[in-house]
Amino acid sequence: KPIPVLTIDGPGGAGKGTISSLVAERLGWHLLDSGALYRLTATAAVKHGIALDDEAAVAALAESLDVAFPIENGKPRTLLEGDEVSQAIRTEQTGELASQVAALPAVRAALLQRQRDFQKAPGLVADGRDMGTVVFVDAPLKIFLTASAEERARRRHLQLQEAGMNASLSSLLKEIQARDARDTQRSVAPLKPADDAITLDTTRLSIPEVVERLAELLAQKG
Ligand code: C5P
Repeated sequence: KPIPVLTIDGPGGAGKGTISSLVAERLGWHLLDSGALYRLTATAAVKHGIALDDEAAVAALAESLDVAFPIENGKPRTLLEGDEVSQAIRTEQTGELASQVAALPAVRAALLQRQRDFQKAPGLVADGRDMGTVVFVDAPLKIFLTASAEERARRRHLQLQEAGMNASLSSLLKEIQARDARDTQRSVAPLKPADDAITLDTTRLSIPEVVERLAELLAQKG
């Protein structure tokens, strides 16, 4: 029997990260935060002075990326070449750079197998933009998680405030709209629901309501 995968795709700020980790925890499944791989690739490129439009060089870097996701005292950490980057890769600026390298076909190809390696028993929750359309096309349950751009900007704003970072709501909204545009309009693996995805608009749903809804959908799939 194939190892089950639940794919959760959607635009930035729709709550995919939070929802995916809660669902994975509840099921005892593995978690793939594919956006982190693009964020790490961009971070590594900047660190090594590689131009973000040098497709071959960035792809080579993505292919050999030295990353680890250890869990210490129940807290997941992200290490790039041994350095703690958990906070650094979460900034809007890194998100912007990630979406630039994510538009390069060779970079996406280089990260494909690394992402598929996360599919381990008893199951995988995969969070990203193309989990259901490209990386795990055979996944039995595919979710497309959305919310209005205004609501997503509001949530990001709160998240950043809680992390002690500053950002204006209006500039966050502009960044979200710009990133949406780049992610949906790129020629490779553009952000869009898979044909067999279930779309869930979370604008007016709480986090526990979304988690509950996903658990119900999974139970229906058997
Ligand atoms: O989800 P997150 O905001 O961490 O993703 C950062 C960027 O990485 C996205 O804006 C998108 O351009 C890119 N990405 C992608 N494919 C994925 C995950 C993320 O292109 N599966």
